[in-house]
Amino acid sequence: MSFTKRLIKWYGEHKRELPWRDTTDPYIIWLSEIILQQTRVEQGTPYFHKFVENYPTVKDFAAASEDEILNHWQGLGYYSRGRNMHYTAKMVMEDHAGYFPTNYDTLLRLKGIGEYTAAAISSFAVNEPKAVVDGNVFRLLSRYFGIEEPINSLKGKKLFTKIANELLDKTQPGLFNQAMMEFGSLQCKPKNPYCGICPMQPNCRAFNEGTVISLPVKIKSGTSRNRYFNYLVIIKNGQVLMSKRGPNDIWENLYELPLIETQRPCEAHELINSDEIKKNWGKDIQLQCVTGPVKHILSHQNLFAQFITVENMDVNIINKQYFFIDIDRLDELAQPKLIFGFFKNFFNLK
Ligand code: ADE
Repeated sequence: MSFTKRLIKWYGEHKRELPWRDTTDPYIIWLSEIILQQTRVEQGTPYFHKFVENYPTVKDFAAASEDEILNHWQGLGYYSRGRNMHYTAKMVMEDHAGYFPTNYDTLLRLKGIGEYTAAAISSFAVNEPKAVVDGNVFRLLSRYFGIEEPINSLKGKKLFTKIANELLDKTQPGLFNQAMMEFGSLQCKPKNPYCGICPMQPNCRAFNEGTVISLPVKIKSGTSRNRYFNYLVIIKNGQVLMSKRGPNDIWENLYELPLIETQRPCEAHELINSDEIKKNWGKDIQLQCVTGPVKHILSHQNLFAQFITVENMDVNIINKQYFFIDIDRLDELAQPKLIFGFFKNFFNLK
């Protein structure tokens, strides 16, 4: 039996029932695929339902405010994806009369849609014969064919895309693509794959050569830079002081506590007693307690954050970058995980 036949047989017997598999609506497929690029199926499913319920059509999505979209996106991380989605929904309304494209080449022109997403939408929606190549597919192919070309090199990407397109079942591209991803996700897993019960095992080069664990090969990306975030926690009359982040840095347009970034780790009491702080936050400011430091890892940055609760701050010198909001309305603001995670513990929120 060929690779493709074995794969499709396996899929018929083992596939999960997932909510986005029942649809050919390109907008709904797009929602699910962008969410699933951020997180695993179990964690992504509630987000998928939330988005579909709040925005059943691309028109509803485009009509929402960016703040609202980012608020629903909260917890998925990598917020530029959420922002790109909003931009794309508006483009679909303006340039495509509200009809979400299904054609691979047209999809590629939309913001935030790359080769993977374009192949997924066009194959699932209208069976366009384009193979999807995601992490699951890279892993499965590199093991099955014993390919050591790094999956994050240009040459590797081209090679794996070529092989996936050669294997693609042209009579049912959507089903084939779902099967490839499902096989990589459930059977040919990154760690502890089920080689003992694998239908591909007799022809799997990595299994036969004992290289399953060392494949796929990935080039290590550059080192991360360290940043030191000192957040001030200022509470008055059931309200907390917040700030909106600007452009050109992480977490664009998200909300956080007043931030003092330092070049190196800083003891909270030293920071609070510095002239700079007294000038900006009042000379009577007093340290009450410190939470952290906590380490928060992003793709190219390690953040070391501490949360410094202070009292007796001079409210008159607050500039317009900051605003007070009721603690029980904090959930209306889209915040990075570092911030809403802190609030959750600090205020014992659900
Ligand atoms: N991961 C990414 N896309 C997926 C899909 N359509 N089904 C299951 N897992 C996925």
